[in-house]
Amino acid sequence: MEKNRVVIGTQWGDEGKGKIVDLLSEEADVIVRFQGGANAGHTLVVGDKKIILHLVPSGILHQNKLCLIGNGVVLDPEIFCEELAELERSGVSVSPERLKISYKTHLIMPYHKMLDNLRESKKKGSDKIGTTGRGIGPAYEDKVSRIGIRACDVLDEQRLKQKIERALAEKNVLFKHYFDSKEISADEILEKIGDCLKKLRPYLADVSSEIYKAIDKGKSILFEGAQGTHLDIDHGTYPFVTSSNTVASNVCAGSGCGIAVIDEILGVVKSYTTRVGGGPFPTELNNEIGNYLQNKGGEFGATTGRPRRCGWLDLVVLRESVRLNNISSIVLTKLDVLSGLDTLQICTKYVYNGEEILYPPQIENGLAYVEPVYESIKGWDEDISNIKTYDNLPKATRDYITFIEDNLKVKARIISVGPERSQTIFR
Ligand code: GDP
Ligand code: IMO
Ligand code: MG
Repeated sequence: MEKNRVVIGTQWGDEGKGKIVDLLSEEADVIVRFQGGANAGHTLVVGDKKIILHLVPSGILHQNKLCLIGNGVVLDPEIFCEELAELERSGVSVSPERLKISYKTHLIMPYHKMLDNLRESKKKGSDKIGTTGRGIGPAYEDKVSRIGIRACDVLDEQRLKQKIERALAEKNVLFKHYFDSKEISADEILEKIGDCLKKLRPYLADVSSEIYKAIDKGKSILFEGAQGTHLDIDHGTYPFVTSSNTVASNVCAGSGCGIAVIDEILGVVKSYTTRVGGGPFPTELNNEIGNYLQNKGGEFGATTGRPRRCGWLDLVVLRESVRLNNISSIVLTKLDVLSGLDTLQICTKYVYNGEEILYPPQIENGLAYVEPVYESIKGWDEDISNIKTYDNLPKATRDYITFIEDNLKVKARIISVGPERSQTIFR
Protein backbone atom coordinates (compact mmCIF):
# COMPACT_ATOMS: atom_id res chain seq x y z
CA MET A 1 0.00 0.00 0.00
CA GLU A 2 1.45 3.36 -0.96
CA LYS A 3 -1.40 5.32 0.40
CA ASN A 4 -2.16 6.90 3.73
CA ARG A 5 -5.65 5.80 4.55
CA VAL A 6 -8.31 6.68 7.07
CA VAL A 7 -10.88 4.13 8.24
CA ILE A 8 -13.88 5.71 9.95
CA GLY A 9 -17.36 4.64 11.04
CA THR A 10 -20.27 6.13 9.11
CA GLN A 11 -23.14 5.30 11.47
CA TRP A 12 -23.29 5.11 15.28
CA GLY A 13 -20.21 2.95 15.82
CA ASP A 14 -19.60 -0.81 15.78
CA GLU A 15 -19.61 -0.95 11.98
CA GLY A 16 -16.73 -3.44 11.99
CA LYS A 17 -13.84 -0.97 11.90
CA GLY A 18 -11.60 -3.26 13.98
CA LYS A 19 -11.82 -6.13 11.53
CA ILE A 20 -11.13 -3.82 8.59
CA VAL A 21 -8.19 -2.05 10.26
CA ASP A 22 -6.68 -5.41 11.23
CA LEU A 23 -7.06 -6.57 7.65
CA LEU A 24 -5.67 -3.42 6.02
CA SER A 25 -2.79 -3.30 8.50
CA GLU A 26 -1.22 -6.05 6.42
CA GLU A 27 -0.50 -3.41 3.75
CA ALA A 28 0.33 -0.53 6.12
CA ASP A 29 3.43 0.21 8.21
CA VAL A 30 2.03 2.47 10.91
CA ILE A 31 -1.43 2.36 12.51
CA VAL A 32 -2.69 5.39 14.43
CA ARG A 33 -5.58 6.06 16.81
CA PHE A 34 -6.43 9.78 16.82
CA GLN A 35 -9.56 10.26 18.97
CA GLY A 36 -11.84 8.61 21.49
CA GLY A 37 -10.68 6.29 24.21
CA ALA A 38 -11.66 3.01 25.79
CA ASN A 39 -15.29 3.70 24.92
CA ALA A 40 -14.27 1.97 21.68
CA GLY A 41 -14.50 -1.80 21.41
CA HIS A 42 -12.87 -3.09 18.23
CA THR A 43 -13.18 -6.82 17.64
CA LEU A 44 -10.51 -8.80 15.81
CA VAL A 45 -11.07 -12.43 14.93
CA VAL A 46 -8.10 -14.50 13.85
CA GLY A 47 -8.73 -18.21 13.59
CA ASP A 48 -10.41 -19.31 16.79
CA LYS A 49 -9.06 -16.30 18.70
CA LYS A 50 -11.20 -13.23 19.37
CA ILE A 51 -9.52 -10.11 20.71
CA ILE A 52 -11.33 -6.93 21.68
CA LEU A 53 -9.18 -3.81 21.70
CA HIS A 54 -10.22 -0.59 23.41
CA LEU A 55 -7.11 1.59 23.19
CA VAL A 56 -4.30 -0.18 21.40
CA PRO A 57 -4.61 0.28 17.61
CA SER A 58 -6.05 -2.71 15.73
CA GLY A 59 -2.81 -3.21 13.79
CA ILE A 60 -1.04 -4.65 16.84
CA LEU A 61 -1.52 -8.29 15.83
CA HIS A 62 0.76 -7.77 12.85
CA GLN A 63 4.39 -8.09 13.91
CA ASN A 64 6.76 -5.33 12.74
CA LYS A 65 4.03 -2.71 12.51
CA LEU A 66 4.28 0.47 14.54
CA CYS A 67 1.15 1.46 16.48
CA LEU A 68 0.66 5.03 17.64
CA ILE A 69 -1.80 6.62 20.07
CA GLY A 70 -2.22 10.25 19.13
CA ASN A 71 -2.74 13.38 21.22
CA GLY A 72 -6.45 13.38 20.35
CA VAL A 73 -7.08 10.17 22.30
CA VAL A 74 -8.08 10.16 25.98
CA LEU A 75 -6.16 7.26 27.48
CA ASP A 76 -7.25 5.36 30.57
CA PRO A 77 -3.99 4.14 32.17
CA GLU A 78 -5.70 1.28 34.00
CA ILE A 79 -7.38 -0.10 30.88
CA PHE A 80 -4.19 0.45 28.90
CA CYS A 81 -2.16 -1.64 31.37
CA GLU A 82 -4.82 -4.37 31.39
CA GLU A 83 -4.89 -4.42 27.60
CA LEU A 84 -1.09 -4.72 27.36
CA ALA A 85 -1.11 -7.59 29.86
CA GLU A 86 -3.86 -9.36 27.94
CA LEU A 87 -2.05 -8.97 24.63
CA GLU A 88 1.19 -10.26 26.15
CA ARG A 89 -0.74 -13.28 27.51
CA SER A 90 -1.99 -13.98 23.98
CA GLY A 91 1.60 -13.91 22.76
CA VAL A 92 1.47 -10.46 21.13
CA SER A 93 4.51 -8.29 21.79
CA VAL A 94 3.69 -4.71 22.76
CA SER A 95 7.14 -3.33 23.46
CA PRO A 96 7.73 0.45 23.29
CA GLU A 97 9.38 -0.16 19.91
CA ARG A 98 6.00 -1.23 18.54
CA LEU A 99 3.63 0.99 20.46
CA LYS A 100 3.97 4.67 21.27
CA ILE A 101 1.79 7.22 23.07
CA SER A 102 1.94 10.94 22.42
CA TYR A 103 3.34 13.04 25.27
CA LYS A 104 0.28 15.22 24.71
CA THR A 105 -2.37 12.53 25.10
CA HIS A 106 -4.79 13.33 27.92
CA LEU A 107 -5.26 10.72 30.62
CA ILE A 108 -8.52 9.50 32.05
CA MET A 109 -8.39 9.66 35.82
CA PRO A 110 -10.59 7.72 38.28
CA TYR A 111 -12.53 10.93 38.99
CA HIS A 112 -13.54 11.21 35.31
CA LYS A 113 -15.14 7.79 35.47
CA MET A 114 -16.81 8.62 38.79
CA LEU A 115 -18.26 11.81 37.33
CA ASP A 116 -19.41 10.08 34.14
CA ASN A 117 -21.31 7.45 36.12
CA LEU A 118 -22.74 9.81 38.74
CA ARG A 119 -24.08 12.10 36.03
CA GLU A 120 -25.67 9.27 34.13
CA SER A 121 -27.30 7.87 37.22
CA LYS A 122 -28.76 11.27 38.09
CA LYS A 123 -30.38 11.66 34.65
CA LYS A 124 -33.91 10.42 34.15
CA GLY A 125 -35.37 8.15 31.43
CA SER A 126 -34.85 9.38 27.90
CA ASP A 127 -32.45 12.11 29.09
CA LYS A 128 -29.81 9.45 29.73
CA ILE A 129 -27.08 9.47 27.10
CA GLY A 130 -26.22 5.88 27.91
CA THR A 131 -22.48 6.54 27.95
CA THR A 132 -20.00 3.71 28.27
CA GLY A 133 -19.12 4.96 31.75
CA ARG A 134 -15.47 5.18 30.74
CA GLY A 135 -15.01 8.82 31.75
CA ILE A 136 -14.72 10.07 28.17
CA GLY A 137 -16.83 13.24 28.46
CA PRO A 138 -15.31 14.46 31.74
CA ALA A 139 -11.75 13.85 30.46
CA TYR A 140 -12.35 15.90 27.30
CA GLU A 141 -13.97 18.60 29.46
CA ASP A 142 -10.82 18.88 31.55
CA LYS A 143 -8.71 19.04 28.39
CA VAL A 144 -10.73 21.99 27.09
CA SER A 145 -10.82 23.58 30.56
CA ARG A 146 -7.01 23.39 30.61
CA ILE A 147 -6.87 21.30 33.77
CA GLY A 148 -6.27 17.94 32.11
CA ILE A 149 -3.57 15.47 33.10
CA ARG A 150 -1.44 14.53 30.10
CA ALA A 151 0.76 11.55 29.44
CA CYS A 152 3.91 13.73 29.78
CA ASP A 153 2.89 14.53 33.35
CA VAL A 154 3.82 11.02 34.46
CA LEU A 155 7.47 12.02 34.12
CA ASP A 156 7.36 14.38 37.10
CA GLU A 157 5.70 12.92 40.18
CA GLN A 158 5.57 16.14 42.18
CA ARG A 159 3.99 18.10 39.38
CA LEU A 160 1.59 15.26 38.65
CA LYS A 161 0.30 15.31 42.21
CA GLN A 162 -0.12 19.08 42.12
CA LYS A 163 -2.05 18.89 38.88
CA ILE A 164 -4.34 16.18 40.23
CA GLU A 165 -4.99 18.25 43.37
CA ARG A 166 -5.86 21.24 41.22
CA ALA A 167 -8.23 19.20 39.04
CA LEU A 168 -9.89 17.75 42.13
CA ALA A 169 -10.63 21.07 43.83
CA GLU A 170 -13.87 21.69 41.94
CA LYS A 171 -14.73 18.03 41.48
CA ASN A 172 -14.76 17.23 45.17
CA VAL A 173 -17.27 20.01 45.76
CA LEU A 174 -19.48 18.38 43.14
CA PHE A 175 -18.98 14.87 44.53
CA LYS A 176 -19.82 15.93 48.07
CA HIS A 177 -22.49 18.58 47.66
CA TYR A 178 -24.14 17.92 44.31
CA PHE A 179 -23.94 14.14 44.02
CA ASP A 180 -24.00 13.38 47.73
CA SER A 181 -21.10 11.05 47.10
CA LYS A 182 -17.56 10.38 48.35
CA GLU A 183 -14.71 12.83 47.85
CA ILE A 184 -11.39 11.53 46.59
CA SER A 185 -7.82 12.71 47.26
CA ALA A 186 -4.75 12.88 45.05
CA ASP A 187 -3.06 10.39 47.38
CA GLU A 188 -5.86 7.86 46.93
CA ILE A 189 -5.63 8.25 43.17
CA LEU A 190 -1.87 7.79 43.11
CA GLU A 191 -2.19 4.81 45.42
CA LYS A 192 -4.68 3.23 42.99
CA ILE A 193 -3.06 3.96 39.63
CA GLY A 194 0.48 5.18 40.44
CA ASP A 195 2.14 1.95 39.30
CA CYS A 196 0.22 1.96 36.09
CA LEU A 197 1.14 5.60 35.41
CA LYS A 198 4.83 4.70 35.78
CA LYS A 199 4.39 1.93 33.21
CA LEU A 200 3.43 4.54 30.60
CA ARG A 201 6.84 6.22 30.70
CA PRO A 202 8.77 4.10 28.17
CA TYR A 203 5.90 4.38 25.69
CA LEU A 204 5.94 8.19 25.45
CA ALA A 205 6.92 9.63 22.08
CA ASP A 206 6.49 12.54 19.71
CA VAL A 207 3.77 10.93 17.60
CA SER A 208 3.70 13.69 14.99
CA SER A 209 7.42 13.24 14.42
CA GLU A 210 6.99 9.43 14.22
CA ILE A 211 4.37 9.90 11.49
CA TYR A 212 6.63 12.15 9.41
CA LYS A 213 9.66 9.89 9.91
CA ALA A 214 7.58 7.06 8.45
CA ILE A 215 6.34 9.19 5.55
CA ASP A 216 9.91 10.27 4.75
CA LYS A 217 10.85 6.61 4.47
CA GLY A 218 8.01 6.03 1.99
CA LYS A 219 5.94 4.09 4.51
CA SER A 220 2.18 4.08 4.63
CA ILE A 221 -0.05 5.10 7.50
CA LEU A 222 -3.45 3.76 8.45
CA PHE A 223 -5.55 5.98 10.70
CA GLU A 224 -8.10 4.08 12.77
CA GLY A 225 -11.29 5.91 13.67
CA ALA A 226 -13.32 5.05 16.73
CA GLN A 227 -17.07 5.50 17.22
CA GLY A 228 -18.95 6.72 14.16
CA THR A 229 -19.81 9.90 12.28
CA HIS A 230 -23.22 10.33 13.93
CA LEU A 231 -21.61 10.16 17.36
CA ASP A 232 -19.39 13.15 16.46
CA ILE A 233 -19.54 15.91 19.08
CA ASP A 234 -20.35 18.56 16.42
CA HIS A 235 -21.97 16.68 13.55
CA GLY A 236 -23.67 13.81 15.37
CA THR A 237 -27.08 13.52 17.00
CA TYR A 238 -26.20 15.98 19.78
CA PRO A 239 -26.55 15.62 22.75
CA PHE A 240 -26.62 11.84 22.19
CA VAL A 241 -23.03 11.75 21.00
CA THR A 242 -19.56 11.05 22.30
CA SER A 243 -17.22 13.89 23.28
CA SER A 244 -14.72 13.88 20.42
CA ASN A 245 -14.78 14.67 16.72
CA THR A 246 -15.09 11.30 15.05
CA VAL A 247 -15.04 12.59 11.48
CA ALA A 248 -12.03 11.97 9.24
CA SER A 249 -10.86 15.59 9.40
CA ASN A 250 -9.92 15.10 13.05
CA VAL A 251 -7.18 12.69 11.97
CA CYS A 252 -4.85 15.64 11.52
CA ALA A 253 -5.50 17.53 14.75
CA GLY A 254 -5.65 14.28 16.71
CA SER A 255 -2.31 12.94 15.55
CA GLY A 256 -0.24 15.93 14.48
CA CYS A 257 -0.10 15.78 10.69
CA GLY A 258 -1.21 17.99 7.83
CA ILE A 259 -4.29 17.34 5.71
CA ALA A 260 -2.26 16.71 2.56
CA VAL A 261 -0.95 13.53 4.21
CA ILE A 262 -4.28 11.78 3.65
CA ASP A 263 -4.83 9.98 0.35
CA GLU A 264 -7.93 7.92 0.91
CA ILE A 265 -10.91 7.89 3.25
CA LEU A 266 -12.72 4.59 3.72
CA GLY A 267 -16.12 4.75 5.36
CA VAL A 268 -17.20 1.56 7.07
CA VAL A 269 -20.93 0.91 6.58
CA LYS A 270 -22.74 -1.88 8.37
CA SER A 271 -25.33 -3.39 5.99
CA TYR A 272 -28.05 -2.44 8.47
CA THR A 273 -27.97 0.08 11.33
CA THR A 274 -27.22 -0.31 15.04
CA ARG A 275 -26.96 2.06 17.95
CA VAL A 276 -25.99 1.55 21.61
CA GLY A 277 -27.24 3.93 24.26
CA GLY A 278 -29.84 6.69 23.96
CA GLY A 279 -30.77 9.03 21.11
CA PRO A 280 -33.00 9.10 18.04
CA PHE A 281 -32.86 6.24 15.54
CA PRO A 282 -35.41 6.64 12.71
CA THR A 283 -35.09 3.17 11.18
CA GLU A 284 -35.07 1.25 14.48
CA LEU A 285 -36.96 -2.05 14.42
CA ASN A 286 -38.63 -2.93 17.69
CA ASN A 287 -39.95 -6.18 16.27
CA GLU A 288 -39.02 -9.67 15.16
CA ILE A 289 -36.75 -8.44 12.39
CA GLY A 290 -34.86 -6.25 14.86
CA ASN A 291 -34.40 -9.28 17.10
CA TYR A 292 -33.30 -11.36 14.12
CA LEU A 293 -30.56 -8.83 13.26
CA GLN A 294 -29.51 -8.56 16.90
CA ASN A 295 -29.16 -12.32 17.34
CA LYS A 296 -27.73 -13.21 13.97
CA GLY A 297 -25.38 -10.22 13.98
CA GLY A 298 -24.32 -10.80 17.59
CA GLU A 299 -25.23 -7.19 18.28
CA PHE A 300 -24.09 -6.86 21.87
CA GLY A 301 -21.64 -4.12 22.87
CA ALA A 302 -17.95 -5.05 22.73
CA THR A 303 -17.25 -2.60 25.58
CA THR A 304 -20.32 -2.73 27.83
CA GLY A 305 -22.10 -5.91 26.69
CA ARG A 306 -25.34 -3.93 26.25
CA PRO A 307 -27.69 -5.12 23.51
CA ARG A 308 -27.40 -2.90 20.44
CA ARG A 309 -30.59 -1.43 19.02
CA CYS A 310 -31.03 -2.63 15.42
CA GLY A 311 -32.77 -1.26 12.34
CA TRP A 312 -32.76 -1.00 8.55
CA LEU A 313 -30.01 0.70 6.60
CA ASP A 314 -30.48 4.48 6.59
CA LEU A 315 -29.17 6.22 3.46
CA VAL A 316 -30.03 9.68 4.79
CA VAL A 317 -27.61 9.23 7.66
CA LEU A 318 -25.04 7.75 5.26
CA ARG A 319 -25.43 10.49 2.67
CA GLU A 320 -24.44 13.00 5.31
CA SER A 321 -21.50 10.82 6.38
CA VAL A 322 -20.20 10.68 2.81
CA ARG A 323 -20.29 14.47 2.70
CA LEU A 324 -18.90 15.17 6.19
CA ASN A 325 -15.92 12.86 5.65
CA ASN A 326 -15.46 13.18 1.89
CA ILE A 327 -15.52 9.38 1.73
CA SER A 328 -13.60 7.92 -1.22
CA SER A 329 -15.09 4.46 -1.00
CA ILE A 330 -17.13 2.40 1.38
CA VAL A 331 -16.48 -0.87 3.14
CA LEU A 332 -19.75 -2.75 3.47
CA THR A 333 -19.76 -5.09 6.48
CA LYS A 334 -21.99 -7.80 7.93
CA LEU A 335 -23.76 -8.44 4.64
CA ASP A 336 -23.97 -12.11 5.62
CA VAL A 337 -26.31 -11.18 8.49
CA LEU A 338 -29.04 -10.16 6.00
CA SER A 339 -29.27 -13.64 4.43
CA GLY A 340 -32.63 -15.28 5.06
CA LEU A 341 -34.85 -12.18 5.02
CA ASP A 342 -37.51 -12.20 2.25
CA THR A 343 -37.57 -8.46 1.74
CA LEU A 344 -35.12 -5.80 2.80
CA GLN A 345 -36.08 -2.20 3.42
CA ILE A 346 -33.72 0.70 2.82
CA CYS A 347 -34.52 4.20 4.02
CA THR A 348 -33.83 6.58 1.12
CA LYS A 349 -35.30 9.82 2.48
CA TYR A 350 -37.27 11.27 5.37
CA VAL A 351 -40.50 13.19 5.63
CA TYR A 352 -40.00 16.15 7.93
CA ASN A 353 -42.63 18.85 8.52
CA GLY A 354 -44.58 17.47 5.55
CA GLU A 355 -41.62 17.73 3.16
CA GLU A 356 -39.29 15.10 1.75
CA ILE A 357 -35.64 15.58 2.69
CA LEU A 358 -32.45 13.74 1.68
CA TYR A 359 -30.21 14.93 4.53
CA PRO A 360 -30.89 15.02 8.29
CA PRO A 361 -32.60 18.16 9.63
CA GLN A 362 -30.03 20.46 11.20
CA ILE A 363 -31.93 21.35 14.38
CA GLU A 364 -31.05 19.64 17.65
CA ASN A 365 -32.45 16.14 17.92
CA GLY A 366 -33.90 16.56 14.41
CA LEU A 367 -33.87 12.81 13.76
CA ALA A 368 -36.47 12.38 16.50
CA TYR A 369 -39.03 14.19 14.32
CA VAL A 370 -38.62 12.49 10.94
CA GLU A 371 -40.56 9.68 9.27
CA PRO A 372 -38.35 7.34 7.25
CA VAL A 373 -39.40 6.58 3.67
CA TYR A 374 -38.42 3.08 2.54
CA GLU A 375 -37.83 1.26 -0.71
CA SER A 376 -38.23 -2.50 -0.70
CA ILE A 377 -35.54 -4.72 -2.15
CA LYS A 378 -35.73 -8.45 -2.68
CA GLY A 379 -33.73 -10.40 -0.11
CA TRP A 380 -31.72 -13.59 -0.58
CA ASP A 381 -31.67 -16.91 1.19
CA GLU A 382 -28.19 -18.19 0.41
CA ASP A 383 -25.44 -18.27 3.04
CA ILE A 384 -22.86 -15.89 1.55
CA SER A 385 -20.29 -16.11 4.35
CA ASN A 386 -17.86 -18.22 2.33
CA ILE A 387 -18.12 -16.42 -0.99
CA LYS A 388 -14.79 -14.99 -2.12
CA THR A 389 -15.61 -12.99 -5.26
CA TYR A 390 -18.16 -10.33 -6.06
CA ASP A 391 -19.46 -12.14 -9.13
CA ASN A 392 -20.30 -15.21 -7.06
CA LEU A 393 -22.63 -13.28 -4.78
CA PRO A 394 -26.35 -13.93 -5.45
CA LYS A 395 -27.94 -11.42 -7.84
CA ALA A 396 -30.19 -10.04 -5.08
CA THR A 397 -27.12 -9.36 -2.90
CA ARG A 398 -25.40 -7.54 -5.77
CA ASP A 399 -28.57 -5.53 -6.36
CA TYR A 400 -28.58 -4.47 -2.69
CA ILE A 401 -24.96 -3.29 -3.01
CA THR A 402 -25.65 -1.48 -6.28
CA PHE A 403 -28.67 0.27 -4.76
CA ILE A 404 -26.49 1.63 -1.95
CA GLU A 405 -23.70 2.67 -4.33
CA ASP A 406 -26.08 4.45 -6.70
CA ASN A 407 -27.71 6.35 -3.88
CA LEU A 408 -24.50 7.37 -2.15
CA LYS A 409 -22.51 7.85 -5.38
CA VAL A 410 -19.58 5.97 -3.82
CA LYS A 411 -18.32 2.49 -4.63
CA ALA A 412 -18.12 -0.39 -2.16
CA ARG A 413 -14.53 -1.52 -2.67
CA ILE A 414 -14.48 -3.99 0.21
CA ILE A 415 -17.35 -6.27 1.23
CA SER A 416 -17.25 -8.18 4.49
CA VAL A 417 -19.27 -11.38 4.84
CA GLY A 418 -18.04 -12.65 8.22
CA PRO A 419 -15.87 -11.67 11.20
CA GLU A 420 -12.71 -13.41 9.97
CA ARG A 421 -10.01 -11.89 7.79
CA SER A 422 -10.66 -14.44 5.06
CA GLN A 423 -14.37 -13.56 4.88
CA THR A 424 -13.73 -10.48 2.80
CA ILE A 425 -14.35 -9.66 -0.86
CA PHE A 426 -12.10 -7.06 -2.53
CA ARG A 427 -13.19 -5.41 -5.76
P1 GDP B 1 -16.07 -1.74 15.61
O1 GDP B 1 -16.31 -1.06 16.91
O2 GDP B 1 -16.49 -0.89 14.44
O3 GDP B 1 -14.67 -2.26 15.45
O4 GDP B 1 -17.04 -3.01 15.59
P2 GDP B 1 -17.26 -4.05 16.80
O5 GDP B 1 -16.08 -4.92 16.89
O6 GDP B 1 -17.71 -3.35 18.02
O7 GDP B 1 -18.53 -4.84 16.27
C1 GDP B 1 -18.52 -5.51 15.06
C2 GDP B 1 -18.83 -6.99 15.34
O8 GDP B 1 -19.17 -7.64 14.12
C3 GDP B 1 -17.69 -7.77 15.89
O9 GDP B 1 -18.17 -8.78 16.71
C4 GDP B 1 -17.01 -8.37 14.65
O10 GDP B 1 -16.30 -9.56 14.92
C5 GDP B 1 -18.21 -8.65 13.79
N1 GDP B 1 -18.01 -8.54 12.35
C6 GDP B 1 -17.23 -7.69 11.65
N2 GDP B 1 -17.44 -7.83 10.32
C7 GDP B 1 -18.38 -8.80 10.19
C8 GDP B 1 -19.06 -9.38 9.06
O11 GDP B 1 -18.85 -9.03 7.91
N3 GDP B 1 -20.00 -10.34 9.32
C9 GDP B 1 -20.28 -10.75 10.59
N4 GDP B 1 -21.21 -11.68 10.75
N5 GDP B 1 -19.66 -10.22 11.67
C10 GDP B 1 -18.75 -9.25 11.47
P1 IMO C 1 -16.64 1.84 18.58
O1 IMO C 1 -15.29 2.47 18.32
C1 IMO C 1 -20.84 2.39 19.66
C2 IMO C 1 -21.78 5.68 22.42
C3 IMO C 1 -22.27 5.28 23.79
C4 IMO C 1 -23.19 6.46 24.10
C5 IMO C 1 -22.43 7.64 23.47
C6 IMO C 1 -21.60 8.43 24.48
O2 IMO C 1 -16.56 0.48 19.18
O3 IMO C 1 -17.50 1.92 17.38
P2 IMO C 1 -19.28 7.91 25.69
O4 IMO C 1 -18.91 6.81 26.65
O5 IMO C 1 -18.45 7.98 24.47
O6 IMO C 1 -19.38 9.25 26.37
O7 IMO C 1 -20.80 7.54 25.25
O8 IMO C 1 -21.59 7.09 22.50
N1 IMO C 1 -20.47 5.07 22.03
C7 IMO C 1 -20.35 4.07 21.15
N2 IMO C 1 -21.30 3.35 20.50
N3 IMO C 1 -19.53 2.16 19.43
C8 IMO C 1 -18.57 2.89 20.05
O9 IMO C 1 -17.26 2.77 19.75
C9 IMO C 1 -18.97 3.87 20.99
N4 IMO C 1 -18.31 4.74 21.78
C10 IMO C 1 -19.24 5.47 22.40
O10 IMO C 1 -22.97 4.06 23.75
O11 IMO C 1 -24.40 6.32 23.39
MG1 MG D 1 -17.26 -1.39 18.73
